[in-house]
Amino acid sequence: MEIVVSGIRPTGKLHIGNYFGAVSHFLKMQNSFDCYFFIADFHSLTTHPTPADLHESVRIVLAEYLALGLDPEKAVIYLQSDVPEVTELYLYLNMNAYKGELERVSSFKEKAKSQPDNINAGLLTYPTLMAADILIHKAHKVPVGKDQEQHLEMTRTFANRFNRLYQSEYFPEPTAFTFGEQLIKVPGLTGTGKMSKSAGEADCIYISEEADILKKKIMRAVTDSGPTKPNSKLTQPVANIFSLMELVSDKDVTNSFKKSYADCTIRYGDLKKQLAEDMEKFIYPFREKIKDTLANKQLLAKVAKQGAESARESASKTIKEVREIIGFKKFY
Ligand code: ADP
Ligand code: TRP
Repeated sequence: MEIVVSGIRPTGKLHIGNYFGAVSHFLKMQNSFDCYFFIADFHSLTTHPTPADLHESVRIVLAEYLALGLDPEKAVIYLQSDVPEVTELYLYLNMNAYKGELERVSSFKEKAKSQPDNINAGLLTYPTLMAADILIHKAHKVPVGKDQEQHLEMTRTFANRFNRLYQSEYFPEPTAFTFGEQLIKVPGLTGTGKMSKSAGEADCIYISEEADILKKKIMRAVTDSGPTKPNSKLTQPVANIFSLMELVSDKDVTNSFKKSYADCTIRYGDLKKQLAEDMEKFIYPFREKIKDTLANKQLLAKVAKQGAESARESASKTIKEVREIIGFKKFY
């Protein structure tokens, strides 16, 4: 069976962009493939979180994975830091990852610009660690958003380079995969691009958002001064509100607001109120489930342990074979 690997960096609570862009694909894939879904806690060290914040973020993502429907009986759910074999493969891949190509990766260039005081080697070699995550299970498919395509291209480069260097066909070439669906970009509430934690609290709708905060955030979402001519083009912030609506509201409801935009009778207050209501309906069952799961220490421990064992089984097999290919032979 084809192997699927994907992970999310724990940086706090998951937002609905993470859900529609990543987790919803995981949910479908776990039924059809051999899946490994992990929490990329090594990756999050590039930003130097405090030990308490790191642990709390990991705990939240683990609970949210489960509450959203990832099933430990169907997929291997684990913490990256529970699989030390990943770091060993990272070391091997780094020997054939070149400074020039790593410096040309867009995410590195952006980070180097935005945080000039912390351009660490972990940031530069982020794509090698991500390649190690994927190649450690010899994955074929990787469900990720568009923003990760370049990293995946690097993974293919490293896999092919390894294969060529050691004249083996050891690693398959992994490709981005979202079940034939278009890669979607969920917009945020502040009127700019994709919903993202880096755009601030007000931009994000968390999947665990409390009802009153959810309503406040949506009512404060950026719009414009309203259409003045019939059938005018949507401005970006208003288009964003409609995009969010399309995710959670009935088609008829969205269409009727689109009509009232076209004939200039729309009231943004009503539009947002409707979005807030429909978003609340969507989030509500998750929110309750997340609370229960977060409180269920035993379940979190059981899932993490079981996941670590299965992930290590697969990873240690790969590392054993890779060591042999490289030429590390046992003397004893
Ligand atoms: P953030 O931008 O908030 O830091 P991450 O970069 O940690 O989020 O993203 C984790 C996963 O969620 C990735 O697979 C990414 O493609 C997906 N993702 C994040 N934000 C969005 C969004 N607004 N729309 C669609 N997918 C998203
Ligand atoms: N880089 C990914 C992100 O920022 C997270 C990630 C780390 C990942 N390792 C991975 C995704 C391996 C897929 C496969 O969202």
